[in-house]
Amino acid sequence: MSESAFTPRVFSGIQPTGNLHLGNYLGAMKRFVDMQGQDFETIYCMVDLHAVTVWQDPKDLMKSTRELCAGFIAAGIDPEQSILINQSQVPEHAQLAWIFNCVARMGWMQRMTQWKDKAGKNQQNASLGLFAYPALMAADILVYHATHVPVGEDQKQHLELTRDIAIKFNHDYGVDFFPETEPVIEGAATRVMSLRDGSKKMSKSDVSDASRINLTDDADAIAKKIRKAKTDPEALPSEAKGLEERPEARNLVNIYAALNEQSVDQVLADVGGKQFSEFKPMLADLAVSKLAPISTEMARLMDNQDEIDKILARGSQRAREITAPILRKTYDIVGMVPPVSL
Ligand code: AMP
Ligand code: TRP
Repeated sequence: MSESAFTPRVFSGIQPTGNLHLGNYLGAMKRFVDMQGQDFETIYCMVDLHAVTVWQDPKDLMKSTRELCAGFIAAGIDPEQSILINQSQVPEHAQLAWIFNCVARMGWMQRMTQWKDKAGKNQQNASLGLFAYPALMAADILVYHATHVPVGEDQKQHLELTRDIAIKFNHDYGVDFFPETEPVIEGAATRVMSLRDGSKKMSKSDVSDASRINLTDDADAIAKKIRKAKTDPEALPSEAKGLEERPEARNLVNIYAALNEQSVDQVLADVGGKQFSEFKPMLADLAVSKLAPISTEMARLMDNQDEIDKILARGSQRAREITAPILRKTYDIVGMVPPVSL
């Protein structure tokens, strides 16, 4: 199927589960902002239905959803230019997910590494929703006929499954209805690692707060975490090759490059030969200059909850203009009798 049949449309989502961090910013949000200025319709989503696949305290979930919305706006998403929504306000996501539950196969879901990681040893006790998580994610994307999905490296497998679902639906029903979505996994920071352990990704759920830079950290906290970040005793190399066996050093250089919108080679041309005692303060200054304005703006927006709630309500209204017809068409294809006017 030619891609040109579909309007260029970007969709991506983040779970409102608290502790938004530098990995979310560089791997996702900053790139959402970059795509906003190009020739795409852009839709960004707080995936609250995905969040509850593992237990969430209701009060925390509400707060985290509004905080994530504030984070999107503070990072540069313009709610006029983009559509900002929380998933549960656009019911077509969950409705299409049901159809996809019936298209996807158990075996596909069982292969997902996120399922295996999150369910752990006790799969029998994991929620059914956690197992079906990737079908809902496919629905998030395909209910807009989205063509491009910017995400971090960890979501690659889910996007391949999204394509598999689209292909199987189109094949089973003999239609050319859902697009084969392109993952957009680009830049120096598609996988930001923990500051305490270069073999683990920076994550919301790491018990060590020192492992991540939160978007709500103030300048002192950011500087302190970078000062304490794990490194090795060598000076920085002048070429990317010299970072191959040095995961912690590579991570800090990648972060610098992404924050400063440079390539790793450009950064190393400047800092090659420097010790970490010199590089870390440079990185801390850069991180503070980029992140402190975001945390200040997030705090300001969080004092204005009504404004956030209106943005989400307006976003869902706009979103449903796209999703309702696509869901109806899907139901028609599947053979669901439509409501007639009475
Ligand atoms: P999540 O926090 O799991 O909802 O992830 C939201 C987005 O941030 C997804 O696009 C992830 O791929 C991205 N992301 C999460 N953690 C990282 C990380 N450590 N490095 C780069 N991207 C990340
Ligand atoms: N699974 C994604 C994550 O944890 C979040 C997500 C849900 C998503 N639906 C999506 C990302 C649709 C991109 C597109 O990071």
